[in-house]
Amino acid sequence: MRVFATCDIGSEALALVSGAGHDLEVWPAPTAPPYEEVRSRVAGGIEGLITTLRDRIDRDLLLAGASSLRVVAQDAVGLDNVDVAAATELRIPVVHTPDVLTEATAEFTIFLLGALARKLAASEELVRTGSWTGWHPYLPFLGDQVGGKTLAILGVGRIGRAVASRAVGLDMNLVLWSHRGENRGLTRALETLMRERSAAGFSRVPRTVRWLPFEEALSAADFVTLHVPLTGSTRGLIDEAAIARMRTGAGLINTSRGPVIDETALLRALRSGKLAGAALDVFETEPLPADSPLLAEDLRDRLRLTHHFGSGTRETRLSRDPDTGMAGRCVNGLLRILAGEPPGSIAWVANGAAVAPRE
Ligand code: DGY
Repeated sequence: MRVFATCDIGSEALALVSGAGHDLEVWPAPTAPPYEEVRSRVAGGIEGLITTLRDRIDRDLLLAGASSLRVVAQDAVGLDNVDVAAATELRIPVVHTPDVLTEATAEFTIFLLGALARKLAASEELVRTGSWTGWHPYLPFLGDQVGGKTLAILGVGRIGRAVASRAVGLDMNLVLWSHRGENRGLTRALETLMRERSAAGFSRVPRTVRWLPFEEALSAADFVTLHVPLTGSTRGLIDEAAIARMRTGAGLINTSRGPVIDETALLRALRSGKLAGAALDVFETEPLPADSPLLAEDLRDRLRLTHHFGSGTRETRLSRDPDTGMAGRCVNGLLRILAGEPPGSIAWVANGAAVAPRE
């Protein structure tokens, strides 16, 4: 069958597609193909489409492949760029890559927390520019310890949970919010970890975990980290009103999707001192435009910016093993659907239950 990949998601995993006897074409440029290019491939009768979060896979594009396209395989867990409802209606399975990027993204979130709290970029700048005049108890600036502080985790799916377990190791108190409500099993597991750390003398006082309503979670935290998918209800979740609820001097971390934060409101909060800092790995527009106000010089010390890098480890992005790498899981899902396996039997099909196998 004919498969078009909008990106080179990793040669080892892609070799499995050709190895299975399919006719694979990979978009050669490192940047995404134009929408019309992808649409015309789909209209041209390809059976498999490998996508990344940079491609807009909307109803119109899916309709163009209604009689031929058998699978959309997204090399990401997030599917906000894919009209999954339309795919379901058209009986086109959509596979994606949950689980395999959980650990990488969770640890990256913790590293951003560290970079923010301990002003790593400003410290390095000092050394590199020769402006470091020698050790001093508090000059030219200090950072904040995260141990003993409260971290609010907004969105407690796979990645939120993995961040929570790592934050326990940093001796933080946790405040959790999920639109699904409390996960009691998780509360018990985190409490056990906290108790055992305290009993073993690893933390001076037992730390706490609480589930709170959204507004209260915001007000209770020294740092807030976002782990929600981008949907109609999470777009602009962190807006002016939400920021007003946050503690003065709090820090904000986003490794989920850019539009979850109203960037204009964030800029105002950083300038006014309402927020001490933010670390953003994702943006309303990616790549970040050269004239983005987020790049303003006066915010440089408070704003850490990374290039949608949360899942960006070699093994997580490229491994062809479906239990390790995004590329492996993406390709494995594609191959299993093309081989006629029922979508509902593959754990990483986004719309398995709704898609009946084709004749
Ligand atoms: C995802 O998989 O949705 C991530 O954002 C990719 O980095």
